[in-house]
Parts: sequence; structure tokens; C-alpha cells
Amino acid sequence: MQLHIPKEDNTETRELRGLFEKQLKELYWAEDVMTGMLEDIILQSFSKDLVSVLQNHLKETAGHITRLETIFSAIGIDAERQPYEAVQCLIKEVGNFIAVTRQGVVRDAGIIAVLQKIKHYEIACYGTMRAYAIALREENVVLLLEQTLQEEKGADLLLSSIAESHINTEAADKEI
Ligand SMILES: [Fe+2]
Repeated sequence: MQLHIPKEDNTETRELRGLFEKQLKELYWAEDVMTGMLEDIILQSFSKDLVSVLQNHLKETAGHITRLETIFSAIGIDAERQPYEAVQCLIKEVGNFIAVTRQGVVRDAGIIAVLQKIKHYEIACYGTMRAYAIALREENVVLLLEQTLQEEKGADLLLSSIAESHINTEAADKEI
């Protein structure tokens, strides 16, 4: 498949600052939809350790939203949400998967797989935003981005450890 580059004059992203602001708005949107998604997924999950990690991450996600609001205010722009299509597709994927599975370890394994894809998106974005903040000399927001980045990495590691410690092996013996 070839890369399609639309012929648009998008003045918003001519500078690194524009890219920084745009991606912060996408993260703000993603954290918001993650909140609703985590609330739903907690109800659909089966394994106690998974439910506990998701409940804890739901609380962390509220903190991520607050940090982004602090960042918007610190860099002097309005807090706005901008939808991000790739995350929209992943949210759709988890909904579709839940629709064709029963509550149990197979569904848990699928939920973890999609959540980790979203975590990796967030890890990439927060890492990039931290680097942009340094380049743009927005030193006062670097630590906030770093804190969220570490929490996203922590959630990803916990999901891996739950999957690898028992969910995947238990799911391997089950049918969807
Ligand atoms: Fe987050």
C-alpha cells in the first residue's frame, strides 16, 4: 500500500509547536475515551488481578487528564479534545472482540492485547511530547509528561505480567 498524502494547506502543523499542541489535544481526547472504555472493560473482565490493574489505571487516567489540563494552562492554550482515528479503531476492536466472547480468560487475553496497543500509543506520544517540550523550552511541563509516561509504562508492564503469568496459558486451553 502506498502512502497517501492529501493536498491540504494545514497551517496548524507548520511548526513543531503546532505539532506539540495538536498531539496534546489528541492525547487529551484519548485519555477521556480511555476513561469510559476502562469503566466498561472492568465490568467485562473476569480475572481478579486484571480487574484490579484496570481499576488502578482508571484512577491514574483521571490524573493524566488533570496533568494535561495543567499543561494546556502552562503553555497558554485552551484544553481541547481532538479525536485520533487510530485509537478510535482500537476501541472498536475491543468492542467487537467482547461481542464474540464470553466473560472469561480468553476475553481477558483479548482485552489485554488491545489495551497494550493503546498503552504503546500513549507511551510513544508522551515520550515524543516530553522530547518536544524540551526542544520548545517548555521545561515546566517536562516533569508532568514524564510522570504520565512512567505510569503508562507501569500499566503496560503490569498487563504483560498478568497475561504471561496465567491468563495466556489458561486461555490456551479454552475456546472463545
Ligand atoms: Fe493515560
